[in-house]
Amino acid sequence: MSGSARESTAPPSGESPPSESVRQRPQPRRVLVVGATGRLGVAIAGGLVARGDEVVLTARDPNKLDRMASRLERDGKAPATVCADLTHADAVDDIVAGLRKAQAPTADRGSVDDIVLACGPFPRTPFEELRREDLERTLLVHAVAPLLLVHALSQDLAKARGAVVALGDAGVTRPYTNHVAYLTAKGAVRTGLKALSRELAPDVRVNVVELGIVSDPEADADPSRHHRLATRSPLGRFGSPQEVVHVVLAMLDATWVTGEVWGIGR
Ligand SMILES: NC(=O)c1ccc[n+]([C@@H]2O[C@H](COP(=O)([O-])OP(=O)(O)OC[C@H]3O[C@@H](n4cnc5c(N)ncnc54)[C@H](OP(=O)(O)O)[C@@H]3O)[C@@H](O)[C@H]2O)c1
Repeated sequence: MSGSARESTAPPSGESPPSESVRQRPQPRRVLVVGATGRLGVAIAGGLVARGDEVVLTARDPNKLDRMASRLERDGKAPATVCADLTHADAVDDIVAGLRKAQAPTADRGSVDDIVLACGPFPRTPFEELRREDLERTLLVHAVAPLLLVHALSQDLAKARGAVVALGDAGVTRPYTNHVAYLTAKGAVRTGLKALSRELAPDVRVNVVELGIVSDPEADADPSRHHRLATRSPLGRFGSPQEVVHVVLAMLDATWVTGEVWGIGR
């Protein structure tokens, strides 16, 4: 590399990289947390609020959403909530309408800057009993609705040079038994988000944090299963929600990363 090229601060494309001030997050981000009432969603929303971001919470159960919004209230202001069941055909429209109501978009800024996708159930679907509706339902919640939601909000995200971070599952590349429907859906959303990262670059970054186990319903009730599963991972234990939050926040802030899968605890 020549001396002059090395000294140049402008990237070859002529596009400006995010300035230092962007990296230092001069203003709070407005972040939609999907699956906000789940084990990890709660921790992620809490982590965002703790660092001064504004969150909008969406999930299915209105009571859980209300309780959570009260817990996250700061200076008399509770986060906005949007109740939507992602298996329903109008869920994406409902979430977008809820965001618009909470914060009307302007020419410079949309209703949301970033999205964290932490939604969906973990259904056990034993192979012998696998049914068409298991696959359809799981694909809808984990893949179809999240991908359409990012699509619908892409202009908002672009205005903020925003990011999407989704929680993936390490089982997509190292499958375990009894979860064909779930793992199929997690694989679909991983691929769909990678495709979106190309469609939305350079204005919006799209990444996946792919987890080992934080909590497993069967292992939580069975210490020997817990031990067996935990010792399969090189670090020898399940993760904690806070360890996931740490990586999700880092991925939201990683302004030179898109289309990547960051594997943790696997
Ligand atoms: N926990 C782990 O060990 C682990 C490991 C690997 C990957 N992950 C991934 O991490 C994410 C979060 O996991 P988690 O353990 O926090 O899950 P969780 O506790 O089961 O929470 C799931 C969240 O998704 C919402 N949800 C479920 N079905 C929905 C539907 N039909 N429409 C709208 N919202 C719906 C739930 O809302 P309601 O309560 O209102 O239904 C809840 O907020 C998931 O994508 C999961 O695949 C988790």
